[in-house]
Amino acid sequence: MNLKKKLLNEKVRMYIYYLLVPLFLLIESEFSLLPRSSWLGSYILILAANSVTFSWMSEHVKLFKIHKEYFWTYTSILLITTLSFPLGYTLLGVYGLPVFFGVLLIYSLMGTESAMASAITLSTVAAIVGNGSFELFAIYTIGSIGSVLLTKRLVKRFDFSKASLWNSVLSILMVLSISVDFFPYSIQLKSIVLMGLNPFVSMILMVGILPYVEYISRIYSNVGLIELGNLSHPLVKKLSVKAPGTYFHSVVLSNMCESAAQRINVNYVLTRVGPYFHDIGKIKRPEFFTENQRGVNPHDSMSPMMNYLVIASHVKYGEELSKSHRLPLLVEDMIREHHGTKMVSFFYQKALSENLKVSPDDFRYPGPKPRTKESGIVMLADSCEAAVRSLKSPTPSKIRNMIEEVVNGIYNERQLDNSGLTLRDIDEIVEEFSKILSSMYKNRIEYPKNSQEVERVIRVAKM
Ligand SMILES: [Fe+2]
Ligand SMILES: [Fe+2]
Repeated sequence: MNLKKKLLNEKVRMYIYYLLVPLFLLIESEFSLLPRSSWLGSYILILAANSVTFSWMSEHVKLFKIHKEYFWTYTSILLITTLSFPLGYTLLGVYGLPVFFGVLLIYSLMGTESAMASAITLSTVAAIVGNGSFELFAIYTIGSIGSVLLTKRLVKRFDFSKASLWNSVLSILMVLSISVDFFPYSIQLKSIVLMGLNPFVSMILMVGILPYVEYISRIYSNVGLIELGNLSHPLVKKLSVKAPGTYFHSVVLSNMCESAAQRINVNYVLTRVGPYFHDIGKIKRPEFFTENQRGVNPHDSMSPMMNYLVIASHVKYGEELSKSHRLPLLVEDMIREHHGTKMVSFFYQKALSENLKVSPDDFRYPGPKPRTKESGIVMLADSCEAAVRSLKSPTPSKIRNMIEEVVNGIYNERQLDNSGLTLRDIDEIVEEFSKILSSMYKNRIEYPKNSQEVERVIRVAKM
């Protein structure tokens, strides 16, 4: 019943969104509350553009289903961008509308699909501001979508400039091809200058506002993530002092996850930064975790249930820290999901050996299971690194076998069901982890111990 009510509420909310947002976009772009006869047609056009693109996007972009913040941020950016249209139009005319500001902001925070969807909606509004000009719609849409597709990924600040340059070039080409037939030379020159500069001004405004949007929405661009991952964050510093073992484990994990993400072509910046924070909750009781112990194990004097509660609490405390420090939502997901709903089997076995009446579910992490490929990679890396570290005398083949065993275990436990990782992805990840962990943990080649052996080595070397 509750679920039905929830779904109904969600549906009602969506209908309100579909009907109201175009109305606000129209009012803002017209800069007037007084309805005109042309409003109905314009309203239907914006409604159609926004409904089609948004419903496509919410179906195809997984993060819109996971975090409602994506929905609110997307809508707010559309509204803020449109709010600036009347000013741009009054000062510079139809070629001075900062469509690219909204598109680039959405691109840097939410990726290609969302940016393309926003480009269509914002260009429709821009065309209405320009008295229903189809040419204007074509220039803004092709300029924005083309630059997004040509830039591929925004990782460095320079990529923002690259995107603006592509937008500028494409828009000028569009203006030129349209102007040849329709406009005298003088208008064409002004349009070219405006369309050439518009993307760069939009970019400068966007770079200025980006940190505020990131802080408010907790949706981070890759540039924001890179800043967060430079190891000078107070939480990471605290981890390095209080729990050096966990800190080292996190750094190794970061390298593993980044390489694996690059190999299967997902967001490697996120998988580099997320692991630094995934065990941040261990700063509360670091001595209870194996990697920080020096001989004494405080778990020995506790009941199995208490053992489990202390171990599992690092996820909950990590989540609290993530909220209070406004870490990115996707990093918080890695904190909550890196153990999924796995069982803390060591202490479950301990409870059984003490003849306690317990069920496996009493010893499970709260979850949820990983919901993105990036989060799935962190879960796999976390278990593999811990398992390989525990090997007595690791060799490349032992490491590989151990990784395969751990990954198969996680897969068979169905922890990766919601992550979107395919079997091919998992094979690639195993390959990458084996390579990295082998180079880190394999035994060093032993040097010859006696003089006869040394002589034999020199003889072989001379041959
Ligand atoms: Fe953990
Ligand atoms: Fe970990």
